Parts: sequence; C-alpha cells; structure tokens
Amino acid sequence: MATGKSATNPCFVLFLFLLLSFLPELSSTSIFPEEALPTKSGYLSINPSSSSAIFYTFYEAQNPISPLTETPILIWLQGGPGCSSMIGNFFELGPWRVVSSHSQNVEHLSVEPNSGSWNRIFGLLFLDSPIGTGFSIASTPQEIPRDQYAVAAHLFAAIKGFISLDPLFKNRPIYISGESYAGKYVPAIGYYILKKNPQLPESERVNLRGVAIGDGLTDPVIQVATHAVNAYFSGLINERQKKELEKAQWEAVNLVQMGNWSEATHARTRVLNLLRNMTGLATLYDYTKQVPYQTGPAIKFLNIGEVKKALGVNESMVFEECSDTVEAALHEDVMKSVKDKVEFLVKNSKVLLYQGQYDLRDGVVSSVAWMKTMNWEGTGEFLMADRKVWRVNGELAGYVQKWGSLSHVVVMGAGHLLPADQPLNSQIMIENWVLDRELFAGKENEVNMLSNFRGSL
Ligand SMILES: *[C@@H]1O[C@H](CO)[C@@H](O)[C@H](O)[C@H]1NC(C)=O
Ligand SMILES: *[C@@H]1O[C@H](CO)[C@@H](O)[C@H](O)[C@H]1NC(C)=O
Ligand SMILES: *[C@@H]1O[C@H](CO)[C@@H](O)[C@H](O)[C@H]1NC(C)=O
Repeated sequence: MATGKSATNPCFVLFLFLLLSFLPELSSTSIFPEEALPTKSGYLSINPSSSSAIFYTFYEAQNPISPLTETPILIWLQGGPGCSSMIGNFFELGPWRVVSSHSQNVEHLSVEPNSGSWNRIFGLLFLDSPIGTGFSIASTPQEIPRDQYAVAAHLFAAIKGFISLDPLFKNRPIYISGESYAGKYVPAIGYYILKKNPQLPESERVNLRGVAIGDGLTDPVIQVATHAVNAYFSGLINERQKKELEKAQWEAVNLVQMGNWSEATHARTRVLNLLRNMTGLATLYDYTKQVPYQTGPAIKFLNIGEVKKALGVNESMVFEECSDTVEAALHEDVMKSVKDKVEFLVKNSKVLLYQGQYDLRDGVVSSVAWMKTMNWEGTGEFLMADRKVWRVNGELAGYVQKWGSLSHVVVMGAGHLLPADQPLNSQIMIENWVLDRELFAGKENEVNMLSNFRGSL
C-alpha cells in the first residue's frame, strides 16, 4: 500500500540495514553448525521415582556397512570418577572436535570433523555417568552412586531407556567402551547386563556383545604397585627414588589389605603425586608431553548457551570437566577391584584391553600386571600367544595379542587419552576388534582343530 512512503521511512531503512548486516554474520559465526549436531541428545531416566537423569548424545553411523537395524552401537564412558563423556565426545573420539584458534588475541572456538571418529561405521552413544557428572542431573547428592553396583544399576536403566527411544535401536549389537576410571564402570555394567538378561523376556534383553577398556583402572591393588618399576625402567627415576616410591605403594596396598578404603585412596594419590614430583613431568597421562592435554576449549564450548540449547541442556547448567561431588561420593570405591567382573565377561562375551604406550597412570605395565592374574582357563594360552606387530599403511601402529575372547592392544604414540593422540589408529582398532577382522580375526577354529588333534593322540 504505502510502499513509497515506507521505503523512505528511516526506521525501515535501519531495519533493512540491520537485517542485511546481521543475518549473514549470525549464520557464519554460528558455533555449532547443523551437521555437527548429534543425531539425538537429551536425558535418560535412571529410575521412575527419581528426577535424576543421565545425559546422552548419540551419533548414528556415518557410513554403515550393514542395515542400521544390525549396525553395532558403541557406548562410551569417561573416567574420573566424575569426568564427563563430553570430553570423549568433543576432544577424543566423537565425530566433531572442538578446536581453538586466536586472532587479534581473541580466542575463537569452532568444531571440525574428526576423521578418526568411532561412529564411522557404528552408532556411538556417549553417556554422562554417574549422575552428577557433566550434564547429567543428580536431584540429590545422596542419589549419586557410592559403589559400582549402583553405577551399573543406573546405567542399565539408561541403556534400556535409550534402546526404547527408537525401534531402530532394538536388538542392535551393543559394545561398551570407556577409559581410565571407566575400567571400573565398563566391567560393572557389562556384568550387570549379563546377569540381568536371563531374568528378562528375550525382547527386553540388552544385546551386549563385548566390552573395551582403554588405559583403565580395574584392579587397583595390583596396578598401584607397578608405578615404581614402570618409571624406573622407563628411565624416569633412579634406584633410590624407586625404593621411596615402592614404600608409598606398599602403604596403599597395606591399607587395602586392612580394608581401610578411604585411606587407601589417599595413599594412591600420594603415590601419583610423588611420581609426578620426582619426574617433573607435565602430566602422568603421557610422559612425552610438555603440556597437559588441552581440554580447555572443549570445556568453554560446552559452557556456551547456544551449545547447551542445541544439546537439549538447561542453559543455567555449568559444565565442569570433572565433578568433585561425584569423585567424593566414589572416594571409597577407588581401590576396589572389579577384576572378577572382567573374568565373567571374558568367559561370556569378549573383552578388549588397550593402552597408550606413554601412559604412566594406567598404562601397559599396569594393565598386564592384573591381566596375567586373571582367573580364566585361557589366561595361560593368552600369555603364550604371539604379540603381533600392527602396522597401518606400512607404519608401526602398535601390538596386538589375542587368545579366544581376550584381546590386548598397545597403541604407539599415545598417552592416556588415546583417541585424542591417535584418532585414526584408535578407530581402526575398535572397528577391527568389533568386527573380528585383521589381527582380531577369530582363531577359534584353529583352537578347536588343535584340541581335536590332541584329543585323537
Ligand atoms: C584408616 O587409616 C587411618 C590412617 O592410618 C586411620 O586414622 C583410620 O582410623 C583408619 N580407618 C579405619 C576404618 O580403619
Ligand atoms: C617436589 O616437592 C618438593 C617439596 O614439596 C618441592 O620443593 C619440589 O619443587 C617438587 N619437585 C617437582 C619437580 O615438582
Ligand atoms: C533451568 O534451570 C533453572 C534453575 O535450576 C530452572 O529454574 C528452570 O526452570 C530450568 N529451565 C527449564 C527450561 O527447565
């Protein structure tokens, strides 16, 4: 109608100007582009009578090699206790990692695709567990788990809740993986599922096929006693320091034997502080690093209102990499072993234990020390199995040792947060292990042939 008039209206001109100058800028600076969003994210109930909930992000397989209804789903659990799986997601193995750049002294955060993502051919589910961790909600501090049974019971409810979100998730093979303190959670939830399944009608069961632990704390009493020899033979401490460290380790072991769990946890912390102090390293997570892992940009990213909103998180929530409250709740759990749960899993499913070569906290020596004490009929054969040289495109990637349902991988050039250091090799490792390919190809037939042969003698 009054077109001529409005075109000259200064308000309209201002509006047009604002529209033109703002719109392109808004979309070009948008920090979390559509294609980087998870397929699904939100909250999973842990129990119908509680408002506590586990936060999740799920990324469907990018290039599945099977129909989606048969495509495996990998679950990822971060360690701590109390550290968020969003660090795994946005710093280690998720499809988009947070990167930081600086221009004119201003930090600019963005996300970029991770070609080593673990969701290349599998679905990938990150869970913030236990409640109180990351974006998960603990409606009261009393509800935060204080032991692995409670952790597993919450996770079981969350996993069942997730499966029921979409008919596409029903019956897909599930593999549970995790790092560091998840060396406790992964066996605990795996065992819980295998024990629970037979009590449920077939349609209600969780189709667990295997568990994978990276740089894990699983049998702390054996593991805490390995720091001194490990550091000594890595050339990081001298003989006198080795003796001093052994004394501190012995104190932790002794407190465990006395059942003084709280003091035993403190004693372990003293061992790690002493080792750090003696070596002067930037981080025990990787003795080659001059600076610790730089998770700061991911933490800042997760505290941006727009990001929280996109993930389905209340914008008033403050994201912390690790929760002190959760750590405190599990304080007496730290030195307790779940080795028996791994023994059950290796007998009834399959297990992968992998470590970065440079990890001084829960690395190779620390893991092998408890693996060789496993009460499993295959332990002897596993220990005698060949340790195969693993190459990727002609380059040394690490070593793989496998017997029956147990696989062990040492990844070269990696520390504790292994997928952050070796994204592509970690992706190849997890894919080949899940699919029993390459160095993980089954030798079960050979084993059977051998026992038949022996039987006929
Ligand atoms: C645990 O050890 C500490 C330090 O030796 C001691 O003070 C405490 O009383 C012990 N607690 C228990 C339950 O034995
Ligand atoms: C180790 O601890 C002592 C005493 O607290 C301190 O003086 C020294 O600087 C520490 N050394 C390192 C390498 O951190
Ligand atoms: C977000 O959290 C605040 C503080 O806990 C609460 O008052 C508000 O209702 C929440 N908003 C939504 C949308 O849930």
